[in-house]
Amino acid sequence: MRRILQVLVLLSCLGDGHPVPGCSLQGWESESFTQPGDLLIGGVFVVHSGFVNPELTFQERPRLLSCEGFHVRYYRDVLGLMFAIDEINKSPDLLPNITLGFSLFDSCMSELRAIWGALSMVSGTRSPVPRYNCHSPSLMVGIVGELVSALSLPIARILSVLHFPQISHGATLSALSNKKVFPSFLRTVPSNMFQNIALTQLISRFGWMWLGMLVVDNDVGEQGGQVIRAGIEKSGSCVAFLEKIHLSYSMRQIQRVVDVIEASSVKVIVLHSPEVHVKALLDALYDREVTGKVFISSASFGITPGLFSKKAWSVLNGTIGLIPKTGKMPGFEEFLYRLHPFDSSKYPFMGLFWEKAFSCQWPTEGKTQGSPIQVTAQELCTGNETLGEMMSSLFEINDLSYTYHAYLAVYAYAHSMHALLECQTVRGLLQNRTCGTVNSIQPWQILQYLKKTPFRAKTGEVFTFNADGDIPASYDIMNIQILDDHFNLVNVGRFDPEARQEDKITINQSAILWGDRFSHVPLSACSNSCQPGYRRSARRGEPICCFDCVPCSTGEMANQSDSSECYKCPDNQWPNEMRDSCVPKVIEFLSYQEPLGIILVTMVTIFSCLTFCILFIFIKHRETPVIKATNRELSYVLLVSLMFCFLCCLLFIGRPSTFSCLLRQICFSIVFSISISSVLAKTIMVILAFKATNPNSPLRKWLGPKIPRNVVGLCSVMQTGICSAWLLVSPPFPRMNTESVSHKMIFECDEGHNLFFYMAMGFMGLLAMVSFVVAFLARNLPGNFNEAKLITFSMLVFSSVWVSFIPAYLSTRGKYTVAVQIFAILASSAGLLSCIFIPKCYILLARPERNNREKFTSNRTSRHIGQ
Ligand SMILES: *[C@@H]1O[C@H](CO)[C@@H](O)[C@H](O)[C@H]1NC(C)=O
Ligand SMILES: *[C@@H]1O[C@H](CO)[C@@H](O)[C@H](O)[C@H]1NC(C)=O
Ligand SMILES: *[C@@H]1O[C@H](CO)[C@@H](O)[C@H](O)[C@H]1NC(C)=O
Ligand SMILES: *[C@@H]1O[C@H](CO)[C@@H](O)[C@H](O)[C@H]1NC(C)=O
Repeated sequence: MRRILQVLVLLSCLGDGHPVPGCSLQGWESESFTQPGDLLIGGVFVVHSGFVNPELTFQERPRLLSCEGFHVRYYRDVLGLMFAIDEINKSPDLLPNITLGFSLFDSCMSELRAIWGALSMVSGTRSPVPRYNCHSPSLMVGIVGELVSALSLPIARILSVLHFPQISHGATLSALSNKKVFPSFLRTVPSNMFQNIALTQLISRFGWMWLGMLVVDNDVGEQGGQVIRAGIEKSGSCVAFLEKIHLSYSMRQIQRVVDVIEASSVKVIVLHSPEVHVKALLDALYDREVTGKVFISSASFGITPGLFSKKAWSVLNGTIGLIPKTGKMPGFEEFLYRLHPFDSSKYPFMGLFWEKAFSCQWPTEGKTQGSPIQVTAQELCTGNETLGEMMSSLFEINDLSYTYHAYLAVYAYAHSMHALLECQTVRGLLQNRTCGTVNSIQPWQILQYLKKTPFRAKTGEVFTFNADGDIPASYDIMNIQILDDHFNLVNVGRFDPEARQEDKITINQSAILWGDRFSHVPLSACSNSCQPGYRRSARRGEPICCFDCVPCSTGEMANQSDSSECYKCPDNQWPNEMRDSCVPKVIEFLSYQEPLGIILVTMVTIFSCLTFCILFIFIKHRETPVIKATNRELSYVLLVSLMFCFLCCLLFIGRPSTFSCLLRQICFSIVFSISISSVLAKTIMVILAFKATNPNSPLRKWLGPKIPRNVVGLCSVMQTGICSAWLLVSPPFPRMNTESVSHKMIFECDEGHNLFFYMAMGFMGLLAMVSFVVAFLARNLPGNFNEAKLITFSMLVFSSVWVSFIPAYLSTRGKYTVAVQIFAILASSAGLLSCIFIPKCYILLARPERNNREKFTSNRTSRHIGQ
């Protein structure tokens, strides 16, 4: 700021504090229009929408840029300012006895002209000298303007040096809120900061993921574009392209932008640029038939149908735009209606406006002001033309934005001047009350009052500038609908940053028309969204919005669409077939209902019945030699224990319970130990009987029932000991096993400490080994009915069953483990049963003739073996 001040001081060529006549720099004659008054309000406005750069000849002083493209919509802002001034001048309450006047300068969208205009306003001379105010006796209160940020910015820099008030009616650049850099800049439109939030929310509301952006090619567009882009990307969407556009672009540059838009798959394009810059681009889009894009325009894009051609209208059909909230201006329409070049000659550009409105030309040059470029009109204007019907479309009065904000700016000045001149105390101004007279007021005093004085327009709504010099933000969301060649601007919603998060944006979606290509909200995405059951997989080197959908892997699911990850289900659940939700795992156990269970139960029944029958036969024939010869008592014990072996299989089938789990392995171990130990006892008895053939043998005294009883007793007591320890230390319990098989839960008995299970099994294995070895040694002992051979064979069967059981047991899961164990029990028991008892039954039932004493007494020992 100091730098600018120094330059200004140097330029203004101060001698003894006053400009030396003739020493001022050669500038341009200012083309400002002034309506005199006690207080003056300066206006730097866009009236013409474009300019022509004069050719530099270097032979004469460069001329000021000339303007072209007078545009009624922009001119309307000037009329708004004048309307407010008229209103205030007529008002008995506001600034009584003081007339407001104004000074107007047309910037024609040119930065150079805007700065020049501002300087000339400040100094009040035709050839401006900064810091000198030559408006006397009128006081230049402050400046209203500019419409666009890019033009307001340089003015704000210069005026801030002089602490000269400036109120913009259209500049939304958020950087201008920085009061350290721009202390004298105020505005009646909200800063972009809220607009960016609004745009981002709008985009996520409609679920657009893949967007293009068009921004104006200057600092303002650059900055704003970056902020909007950051907002879009933060909300998870992606910007496919960000193209720049400017009024001054050549056709080739414009075609390049069209190429980019045409090549892209985006359906939605964010437009952050004053409307004049995109005019040519829209026409080019129409000519190249690049349609089917929906534009979202930021507040810097003024929706001014009159500026655009019919072609551009068609391209803009369906556009959603934000415009700063606009209030009512009662009486403005009548004011416009009454405009006439003869009666309203105190207003600038009246003649030009008339020519434009009626496509005619005034016969004399003198009446027109401004544009040096004359439209070649067929007719001459007469002044008898009437605005009539065309008034509302000519002035586009259905959207008064910016005009209303210019109108408000005048009221802001009026209210603060009123307060200042009336010596009103305004809260926050502590210094001696500055009750100025018109001649002694300084710009910084006005600025202070401006910042603190509440102001209101005719409608009564009260505004105050906040600390940043902005007024509270609020936007209307508009929709462009081109129906039957009419440009309709329909209000479809609101954005209110003060509201709660979910109410900030309200949209009536049913009121929106999306243009002729879309019947409802267009989809704009790089990739189609992923169904539940799939996850996104980013494509290498492309934005995050471009992805492939890959199905979730086994055991994982994604229950929402567009999930970036698949998730594991809880332990007791499992993904369904679609992998889009978790379903409870199937509980598995060996039940009585299923075929396998039924088969096993049937086998158990058959075998136990068979055992029972054999027992019955044995008891029936208990006095016959074949039974007596083979140790009757042991046979009964063995048969009964085998029967229990079969029956204990039933404990393994069915839903596990604490009871069945406790009983299962314990019963099995004990009952099995009894069987094997009976077999062992049998073998021992065979050997003893043989060794004791000699009547004098000392072994004969062992031939009684003592040994078998002790063997069986001892073995079962040992096994019972192991089992008791098992029950005490870590008893088996029922458990839901969710880990071992992924899609099922196995309802099983946890055996508690494995050590005990292996001890019990090992003990039985040891018994079986001993029986086998003993029986093997005795197999060739002579004798008509040597049981040792049968026992050897049965132990072989028994061992092979249990040896093959081990790998089968370890390799199966769930109910099959149980089934394998049952099968092993059945097979080994059946092996014992058949090997040891079937031959005897055969003799008993089929060959009773062999069942006589002679056959068995050839071996004399047999009588001692039998009981
Ligand atoms: C305005 O002027 C009239 C007549 O000159 C005078 O009577 C009135 O008091 C003035 N009002 C103010 C507020 O100065
Ligand atoms: C939304 O727009 C439709 C169509 O314009 C209109 O009928 C309806 O009343 C509007 N709803 C609201 C809540 O404004
Ligand atoms: C604009 O879009 C509407 C539908 O949204 C359609 O009816 C109308 O014909 C379109 N206008 C033009 C000029 O394409
Ligand atoms: C999706 O699953 C998660 C847990 O995996 C759960 O918290 C969430 O509620 C589920 N959502 C839906 C829509 O089912």
